[in-house]
Amino acid sequence: MPAMSQFSSGERIHLVDHKSRQYALTLKAGETYQFSGQKIAHDAIIGRPDGSIVVLSGGKKMLAVRPTFGDYVLKMPRGAQVLYPKDLALIPMWADVYPGARVFEAGTGSGALTMALLRAVGTRGTVVTYEAREDFARTALTNIERYLGTPPNLVPLRRNAYEGLELLEDGLPFDRVVLDLPEPWQVIPHAATALRSGGIYLSFVPTVPQVIQTVEALERATVFGMIETFETLLRTWSVQGRSVRPDHRMVAHSGFITVARKVEPGLLTSRQERGMAEDVSVNGPEREEEE
Ligand SMILES: C[S@@+](CC[C@H](N)C(=O)[O-])C[C@H]1O[C@@H](n2cnc3c(N)ncnc32)[C@H](O)[C@@H]1O
Repeated sequence: MPAMSQFSSGERIHLVDHKSRQYALTLKAGETYQFSGQKIAHDAIIGRPDGSIVVLSGGKKMLAVRPTFGDYVLKMPRGAQVLYPKDLALIPMWADVYPGARVFEAGTGSGALTMALLRAVGTRGTVVTYEAREDFARTALTNIERYLGTPPNLVPLRRNAYEGLELLEDGLPFDRVVLDLPEPWQVIPHAATALRSGGIYLSFVPTVPQVIQTVEALERATVFGMIETFETLLRTWSVQGRSVRPDHRMVAHSGFITVARKVEPGLLTSRQERGMAEDVSVNGPEREEEE
């Protein structure tokens, strides 16, 4: 993404109308943007600062902005279904993806999670991402390059993650394994060897049977502990004068996140013991325990 404040030719921007609806366009010198029968020359936008009001031929005013990461993801071309911003925000936190981390991801899909991981690992880290489908891999790379340029620390591979998880040339294990594909339990035996001790596994699946198979596979692998599963609900609010209330619509379900740590076997592996630890993990400790 350009660091300059002014828009330049080749950049993808969003036009926002008075109802905050966003429309994506890629600026190109000499071209014209058409909206509801009104027009504006791209040249009238190129060179203007991020956040400017632009006026279309019929007098309609719109805001021209560089999209935030969340807005970009919602409007970018999709091959596979992307993760929603609410989940993209949480995954780097719960997988504890830090600057400099070596992360394995599968499947790349449309590249939304890949970008969230690249932003979290920074320039010193590495993201290796597997995608089984050539067409999805291509769409993802275009999406990523349009928003982040060509990240030198991204290793995108057209591979089947169920067949194995190859280490990089230096042979060092991964710090994190992050999965958004239909059968993460098929990757878990490979993740068990490719992750470093203390490393974190995270997977995202939309249904309960998938969660059950995932947790059972983590338990079978014996090297995973501190296993937790949760979902996130984000409810936006309408604030207009004295009419202050939750919006009528929300994304009521996207999927379940399961996290686990690769640890020495022998402690906190049974379901019963995990149940006892439940209150002090996702929700944090009870107030009385803090005092
Ligand atoms: C839900 S999409 C991932 C979306 C992605 N997280 C995003 O935010 O754009 C799941 C992807 O996993 C890929 N996939 C499925 N099985 C796979 C496998 N065994 N190895 C690699 N990729 C796989 C699918 O082709 C699909 O693109």
